[in-house]
Amino acid sequence: MSRVALIRRLPKVELHVHLEGTLEPELAFALADRNDIPLPFASPEAMRAAYRFTDLQSFLDIYYASCSVLLTEQDFYDLTWAYVQRAHADNIRHVEPFFDPQTHTSRGIAFSVVAGGIRRALADAHVHFGVTSRLILCILRDLTEHDAMETLDEALREGLVDGLGLDSGETGNPPSKFARVFARARTARLHLVAHAGEEGPPSYVTEALDVLGAERIDHGVRVLEDPALTERLVMSGVCLTVCPSSNVALRVADTMESHPLRRMLEAGLRVTINSDDPAYFGGYLHDTYVQAAEALDLSDAQLVTLARNAIDGSFASQTRKDELRAELELATGY
Ligand code: ADE
Ligand code: ZN
Repeated sequence: MSRVALIRRLPKVELHVHLEGTLEPELAFALADRNDIPLPFASPEAMRAAYRFTDLQSFLDIYYASCSVLLTEQDFYDLTWAYVQRAHADNIRHVEPFFDPQTHTSRGIAFSVVAGGIRRALADAHVHFGVTSRLILCILRDLTEHDAMETLDEALREGLVDGLGLDSGETGNPPSKFARVFARARTARLHLVAHAGEEGPPSYVTEALDVLGAERIDHGVRVLEDPALTERLVMSGVCLTVCPSSNVALRVADTMESHPLRRMLEAGLRVTINSDDPAYFGGYLHDTYVQAAEALDLSDAQLVTLARNAIDGSFASQTRKDELRAELELATGY
């Protein structure tokens, strides 16, 4: 079986995808038209051509601006449903997407409108495709602790999320800024994850684990800079949701060939492959696996390990994880 054929067969789990980062220019234009909202681009092609980033912040500026076209519950449904269809085409069997409610509530859109539309599409994903999910609310770390706490309180009142995460501009916004927000979420029995060690130092990964109680680290590509932290993560089996095409697009890594993913895998870290913001970084999960596998010459066994790590690192029920492991064994013989 060719490498691409093996990747196609893998029952995949995606643990790091921002729903706002799946907004394709064509859908952005359709929603802009429907909601009578101007976009600063002449066409979807012109919008896509503007996607040249120098770092995380240069991407976030465009990503947040594009969200202005999302207004109604149906808009959030359509955004999520478009992702679900692509996920199904990529043989994704379970997904734990992020969304950024503060990007929308700050524009006057109710939390229930945002999360309600997303949840309705995720429920349909289960009915139509058998794709299971957990939904993770991400706090924007460049905003205040107060804003974060209000957002969490609203989420807990609505009962529409399964986990809490932390994203947006990392530099200068350490995890410890949100210690009390994460403590509250832990009391409410939400799952906890955090972006750390993307642009920020390895010490942010340690803080995310020790101060926030994060169960998974999103990105974490800088952990190899700290051998003691690497050893700790290997021993504890904490899952790292790595996004190689995002890292190249945002210049966290110079090239796909020099990306640390393979070295992380060979160090024994529980690494997974994810798409992050696929509408912006040139590919959904299948393509991201292929790009990484070809550039880093990953073996079949390493590809299967990546897929198994994502099952093991997910927040799916034990029964669902057993089902997915059985599907993986049947599909690949590993
Ligand atoms: N929001 C969307 N994508 C992100 C990323 N890669 N890092 C931090 N925040 C994000
Ligand atoms: Zn991310």
